[in-house]
Amino acid sequence: MKKLKSITIIATTMAISCFTATAHETDLAATHIAKGVSCTACHGTEKVISGAFVENESCLQCHGPLETLQQKFAALGKKNPHDNHLGEIECALCHRGHSPSESYCLQCHKNFVMPMK
Ligand code: HEC
Ligand code: HEC
Ligand code: HEC
Ligand code: HEC
Repeated sequence: MKKLKSITIIATTMAISCFTATAHETDLAATHIAKGVSCTACHGTEKVISGAFVENESCLQCHGPLETLQQKFAALGKKNPHDNHLGEIECALCHRGHSPSESYCLQCHKNFVMPMK
């Protein structure tokens, strides 16, 4: 992830009151916070309100462009989680911020094997 080096990650002093959302150890948010990624980097604000949401562009600032992700999983063909018949969908439909991630594909394709970290 060489690209990340060029990104200035805002080192925030996180007040306890910032943790309004539960952070389980396996959460995407917790994984990110452990790597120095702040609430702001995903949410665009430190005062995240209930019902908050993360735009794909936020994620893609660090993990994009989307084509890079598509190529990484190209071997999966039409079962590529990042390139399929649904087009570009919300990252968080699969990569949940504060609860265990689960592939959205499985809602319709019960027989797919698509584990998520
Ligand atoms: C890796 C990106 C990421 C980071 C870092 C992150 N979040 Fe989130 N957050 C999400 C996503 C994605 C959602 C959308 C709901 C979901 O998928 O869990 C969300 C949703 C939320 C919500 C709304 C939850 C609801 O059910 O209404 C709150 C509040 C929130 N985050 C607070 C925070 C706080 C506070 C921090 C910093 C301690 C933080 N988040 C860090 C990705 C992140
Ligand atoms: C400010 C940059 C930044 C933002 C914004 C960001 N990430 Fe990350 N992400 C990282 C870093 C850094 C890592 C850890 C990379 C590593 O260890 O190689 C990571 C790791 C990951 C991983 C691998 C997790 C694991 O357990 O191995 C996934 C999946 C991921 N991010 C998805 C997302 C999604 C989805 C969003 C938006 C909701 C997002 N990221 C937002 C920087 C970011
Ligand atoms: C249909 C479900 C799905 C969607 C939508 C999705 N992903 Fe993924 N993503 C996966 C799966 C499955 C993996 C592989 C298992 C894992 O890492 O959890 C993965 C892996 C990743 C990884 C780790 C890559 C690596 O090198 O191991 C990153 C980063 C990532 N996704 C980012 C994103 C971003 C950013 C978006 C939105 C533009 C997104 N994903 C949308 C299912 C999805
Ligand atoms: C809202 C329901 C729905 C979701 C969610 C969904 N699909 Fe599908 N998918 C379908 C339907 C309907 C078909 C066409 C009928 C069939 O062949 O099963 C299809 C067909 C397919 C096929 C070709 C047939 C097969 O089973 O090999 C693939 C591959 C596929 N989808 C991949 C995905 C992937 C990857 C995701 C997640 C990113 C996904 N689908 C999410 C409904 C869905």
